[in-house]
Amino acid sequence: MRKSVREGKKVTSKHVAYLGSNKEEADKKYAEIIKNQKKGNLSMINEENKSVNNLLVQKKISIEELSKFCKEKGFVFRSSDIYGGYAGFWDYGPLGIEMFNNIKQEWWNFFIHKREDVVGLDASIISHPRTWKASGHIENFNDVAVVCKKCKTATKIDKSEVGKVNCKCGGEYEIKGEFSLMFKTKVGALDASDAYLRGETAQGMFMDFKLIQQTSRMQLPFGIAQIGKCFRNEIAPREFLFRSREFNIAEFEFFINPEEKKCELLGNEQMNVKVNLLDAETQVAGKDTLKSTTIGNMLKEKRLEEWHAYWLAEQIKWYNSMGLYEIKIREHRKDELSHYSSATFDIDYEFPFGSVELGGNANRGQYDLKQHSKESGENMEIFDEKYKTKVIPRVIEPTFGMERAFLALLTKAYSDDGRGNIVLNLPPKISPVKAAVFPLVKREDFEKIAGDIVKDLKKEFNIAYDKSGSIGRRYARNDEIGTPFCITIDDDSLKKKDVTIRDRNSRVQKRVKIKELKEILRALINSEKTFEEI
Ligand code: GAP
Repeated sequence: MRKSVREGKKVTSKHVAYLGSNKEEADKKYAEIIKNQKKGNLSMINEENKSVNNLLVQKKISIEELSKFCKEKGFVFRSSDIYGGYAGFWDYGPLGIEMFNNIKQEWWNFFIHKREDVVGLDASIISHPRTWKASGHIENFNDVAVVCKKCKTATKIDKSEVGKVNCKCGGEYEIKGEFSLMFKTKVGALDASDAYLRGETAQGMFMDFKLIQQTSRMQLPFGIAQIGKCFRNEIAPREFLFRSREFNIAEFEFFINPEEKKCELLGNEQMNVKVNLLDAETQVAGKDTLKSTTIGNMLKEKRLEEWHAYWLAEQIKWYNSMGLYEIKIREHRKDELSHYSSATFDIDYEFPFGSVELGGNANRGQYDLKQHSKESGENMEIFDEKYKTKVIPRVIEPTFGMERAFLALLTKAYSDDGRGNIVLNLPPKISPVKAAVFPLVKREDFEKIAGDIVKDLKKEFNIAYDKSGSIGRRYARNDEIGTPFCITIDDDSLKKKDVTIRDRNSRVQKRVKIKELKEILRALINSEKTFEEI
């Protein structure tokens, strides 16, 4: 796809997106983009793909293909594979854990390090059993197990869906009963007592709220954040990492004085955030039409209050910062709100195989702090300097399912290079390996320079050294796992002390001085410079 661009007196035609290797493929892809835009204004040509030299085109992938790809390339394996696997449990392989850690680090930077008002926590996975009585999880954290009368598939539905939904095949569900999602365990050898693995990380933040406020000298409004493993005894764990029994949630509780209705942080940057909204009334009417709106409009329509609007916008901005734009916000109907929430929004992502919830944003009010105060007898009030009163704060909770963010990034990145090869078009900051270094051929002098470069770059980045196979094979191997840059040492490197650096998406190569390499790589990885600019 090309676009006419005026540069001074000259009009040139610029490449804006690669749509396929022939006209038929390009027409098909173009029709698909238009259809998607009409459907929900979900643009498939996003900020990233506007790059002039991007030769890649996103390739559709099914969940089964994704799982196979992840196994073959060392991203994710079935847990206990030698025993045939264990339903609902997965292992991150060497590339998967690098990528997953990068996502977690991006989240931590965005919501904690770049801010003054949010601090981190790593609470224990098992806490006092009364935690879960107070939080309402023992009583309410249940799913309804159902089996389709027609295709016999066993699955779970939400309590609010009983009698309202059918199986995908059209068959009616037979109710098999309600099951707790909480994982029970025993603590202690003698007189062991029942305990639970946490079903969400949130309770750690509520229980430590006063300790953190005192030790970190935080003033309202402030937040406590953590990323960690959660456990849910899912009735039907399936669809790869999408629904597992052990997974990671990143979430934070943002504490606000209940009197504080105005959010000083809410500005145009948040109000203008674009939203594809599926509102509650549309769902009640049995429809799924999306509205193209903004956070500002949602606020005007009183779908949420100012602080809730601010955090929903920041949450969308984080997904966008990772290149994820195909986002839809679903407002919860009153009859499906969690036991702790007065307003909730799901953040769904348009995967090639359908829409899936990535995260949520709930207005938890004072529910949790009041419940813990009642159950523990501890006064959960703190002194608010601004209002000069003691208060139990209210809470806004943005939640992120980290496995689903990982899967969204992988499916978004899964691309064809126009020659039938798979290239993982991951943002460089998310790629498991930041650069691969190759001696052009096996020669001691080339290998010496390559070794020195690897040693130096490894001080800062995850770097691969690859000297086996043809250069083309080495590029292909790295393209497939998303390595954004390949550095080659050749004859000229000996004479001129420079190397070639190759950009994954455009396959363009440039020569750069070895002494400038680290700085250039840093700028490219942190998106401070584009490849065209170096
Ligand atoms: N503290 C709020 C909370 O836990 P949730 O909607 O129950 O909210 C948060 O879970 C996110 O965790 C979901 O939006 C989803 O992305 C992810 N998630 C939930 N159950 C999951 C499962 N069984 N496997 C993988 N991810 C899951």
